[in-house]
Amino acid sequence: MIFLTVGGGGREHAAVEALHRSGAEIHAVMKTANPGIIALAKDYLLAPETDVETVCAYAAKVGAQFAFIGPEAPLEAGLVDALERQGVACAAPTANAARIETSKTFMRELVRKYGIEGNLAFASFNNKEEAVRYLETVAHEIVVKPVGLTGGKGVKVQGEHIHTIEDAAEYVGEIFSENIGGAGVIIEEKAVGEEFTLMVFCDGRKISPMPLVQDHKRAFEGDVGPNTGGMGSYSDADHLLPFVEKKDMKQALRILRDIVDAMAKEGCPYRGPMYGQFMLTVDGPKIIEINARFGDPEAMNVLPLLKSDFADVCMRMARGNLESDVEFSRKATVCKYVVPEGYGTRPVPGAGIKVDVEAARAAGAEVFFANVEEVGGKLVTGTSRSIGVVGIADTLEKAERNCEEALKHVVCDGCFVRHDIGKKELVQRRVDHMERLRAAHVD
Ligand code: AMP
Ligand code: GLY
Repeated sequence: MIFLTVGGGGREHAAVEALHRSGAEIHAVMKTANPGIIALAKDYLLAPETDVETVCAYAAKVGAQFAFIGPEAPLEAGLVDALERQGVACAAPTANAARIETSKTFMRELVRKYGIEGNLAFASFNNKEEAVRYLETVAHEIVVKPVGLTGGKGVKVQGEHIHTIEDAAEYVGEIFSENIGGAGVIIEEKAVGEEFTLMVFCDGRKISPMPLVQDHKRAFEGDVGPNTGGMGSYSDADHLLPFVEKKDMKQALRILRDIVDAMAKEGCPYRGPMYGQFMLTVDGPKIIEINARFGDPEAMNVLPLLKSDFADVCMRMARGNLESDVEFSRKATVCKYVVPEGYGTRPVPGAGIKVDVEAARAAGAEVFFANVEEVGGKLVTGTSRSIGVVGIADTLEKAERNCEEALKHVVCDGCFVRHDIGKKELVQRRVDHMERLRAAHVD
C-alpha cells in the first residue's frame, strides 16, 4: 500500500518507522528534511504542511491510497477533506472533526451538551470587556487559554503564570490585541492533580486504547521553567502509570468513547488517533484538552511497542472497520528529547549533533529524529526539538537506564536534556503528590 505521510518531527519519524515495519511504501511531505524519515521513505517533498493544494498534488502524483497526518495545523487547514475528495483515505479527522482540538470552546460545549463526565467549569468570550467582567466574579482558581491553536503555548495557569485578577486581565487583553489563537479566550476552572495522556485509535465509532503516557512540559529538571511542546515522557509495562489505577484509566477511556459517540451524533464522526490529556484529581480524571492527533513525544513511547500492524490499523481507522483491539508489548518506555539550548524561550539553532543509532539500539533504545537536518554531510539542530531517545525494557527503571545509556551516543554541544524524566525520584514525587491530595480530601 502507498502511504502519504505529513509532518517531519519525532512523532512522524516514529509513525513512518511503524508504517515501514508494516511494509508500506512511504511518500513523505515535511517542512524540514528529517533524515530519519528520508531514510525510510521512497521519496519526499519539502513543503509547508498546511499548503493543501501542494500536498494534494503530490499525493496524486505518487498515487497515494492512504494518508497519515502527524500535526494539527494541516487538519485545521482542511487537508483531510481535500485528500478524501480525491480518493485518498485518511487516518486523520476532517477539519470539522478536528475542532475537538482546534476549538477549545467546541470541545467544552460538546462535552457539556452530551453530559459527558470530566468537564471543567468554563466560559468563552469574543471580547475583552466581558471576559474581564467574568474574571471579577469567578469564585474558583482559573486557567486562561486562547480558544484556537497556539502550538502548545499560550496557556496561563493561576498560581503559576498569573497571580492576580490584574495579571489575568492583562493576558486576556494580550490574547485579543495580538489575536493569539485567532478565536477569542476561554477561562477554565483550574484542575489540581497529576496529568496523564490517554491516546486511542478511532474509526468514527469504535475506539481502541494505547498505553498511558506521562509527558513533561516544563523545560527544566524538577518541573521548572517555561512550558514546552514536551521534553520527554514515559510509559509503564502494565500500560497504566504508577499513580493511575485501572479504574481511572477506564473512566478516561469512557470519556473519550462518549466524545467519539457525541461527534458521530453531531455529524462530524472522528477518525484517526485521538489524544486525551487528563488531570487525575481526587474526583477522578478531568479533561485538560483533547487533541486530534498523536502526542509528540507520546507517539514515540507507544508506536515502538505496537504488536499489531500499523499500516493495517491506519487503513482500518480510515475505512471505519477497526474491529479488534490494537495490541502493544507489555514493556516500559522512557523518552528524553535532546533539544537546542534556549528551547522553551529563545532556542539557538545550528549546533552540530552526532548520533550513533546502532550503538543506541544496542543499549536498548530507539532513536527518532526530529528538527535536525543534514548540512554538508553533518547533522545540525533547528529551533525545535532535535532528537528523541526512547529506552525500552521490561521495567521503568531499566527503560530509564537504557535511555541514559543510549543518550551517551548522542553528542551535541549546544543542546540539553531533562535527565530526570522517568527516574525513580520524579516518578515517586507524582505518586506522593497524588497520595497527599487524596489524604487531604478525606480529612
Ligand atoms: P494545554 O496546552 O491545554 O495542554 O495546556 C498546557 C498545560 O497547562 C497543561 O499540560 C496543564 O499542565 C495546564 N493546564 C491546562 N488547562 C488546565 C486546567 N484547566 N487546569 C489545570 N491545568 C491546566
Ligand atoms: N505532548 C503534548 C502534545 O503533543 O500536545
